[in-house]
Amino acid sequence: MTILKIFSLKNKLSLVTGAYGYLGKQICKTLADAGSNIILIEKGIETNSSKLFLKNLKKKYRNQKFYSYSCNLASSLERKNLRFKLKKFNKIDIFINNAAFTGKETTKGYVEKFEKQNLKMWAECLEVSLTAIFDLTQILLPKLRKSKTCSIINISSIYGVYGPDWSIYQGTKMANPASYAAAKAGLIQFTKWLSKTVGPSIRVNSISPGGIYRKQPRKFVNAYVKKTSLKRMAKESDFDGIILLLASDASNYITGQNIIVDGGWGV
Ligand SMILES: NC(=O)c1ccc[n+]([C@@H]2O[C@H](COP(=O)([O-])OP(=O)(O)OC[C@H]3O[C@@H](n4cnc5c(N)ncnc54)[C@H](O)[C@@H]3O)[C@@H](O)[C@H]2O)c1
Repeated sequence: MTILKIFSLKNKLSLVTGAYGYLGKQICKTLADAGSNIILIEKGIETNSSKLFLKNLKKKYRNQKFYSYSCNLASSLERKNLRFKLKKFNKIDIFINNAAFTGKETTKGYVEKFEKQNLKMWAECLEVSLTAIFDLTQILLPKLRKSKTCSIINISSIYGVYGPDWSIYQGTKMANPASYAAAKAGLIQFTKWLSKTVGPSIRVNSISPGGIYRKQPRKFVNAYVKKTSLKRMAKESDFDGIILLLASDASNYITGQNIIVDGGWGV
């Protein structure tokens, strides 16, 4: 195999959750560029922007196949129903758990100081960002086992590894929910546990991205950037390389790892 061929995903089938989100779209573009067919999973896929994204994928990669299914990962019933929707696929080679409960500044009981974070939001966050991944992995396992080169990639976060630095939030309405951190830390450990359990035929790794620039308040960005060695926040394309590495045979002796991609934020 030539060195470039080990990165090829030609004839492989990937499944990506949260596929129409910011990072989800970028992950799909990377996988498609490397030749993969893709199953895109999203809650409420019927937006104009998601329709356009899918249309453009199909247009740009004419010889590849793209399938799109709706699934609210917060619902165990919808997760169960996904099994039937995916019946026609015999095997899945790459399974990327990218969807997570991310919330907004206005989400009551979630993006608030600790005293105001509540059990409802804790449960909702854990359900989407951790429990659904356990459930979906079990549901898909027979299809994953049929692949000879299966790779599972779980998208965690630096907040699954490090505690928050509250000083960077000062003077903003931004916050850092305990449930998000607990779910992401749980996901890293689930990754390790699973790698010992489903090997040798399936590799399982996680990626912990640092903060991605999304027009956050200037005060926050400045304070955040100061903590990084590379003096900037991340952009979606910063994850192309690690996604391709972990998805492809280029990493066929890497499993059970959490790769932190944070520009040196946590060093
Ligand atoms: N943005 C960052 O700075 C950052 C940093 C570290 C880690 N991450 C992680 O990267 C991943 C992608 O996040 P993003 O920044 O692209 O945000 P995003 O909100 O654009 O993506 C999250 C995706 O998950 C989907 N989703 C949420 N709840 C769902 C549900 N109940 N059912 C099905 N889909 C659901 C959303 O619709 C969306 O497509 C997440 O796992 C996030 O935790 C992001």
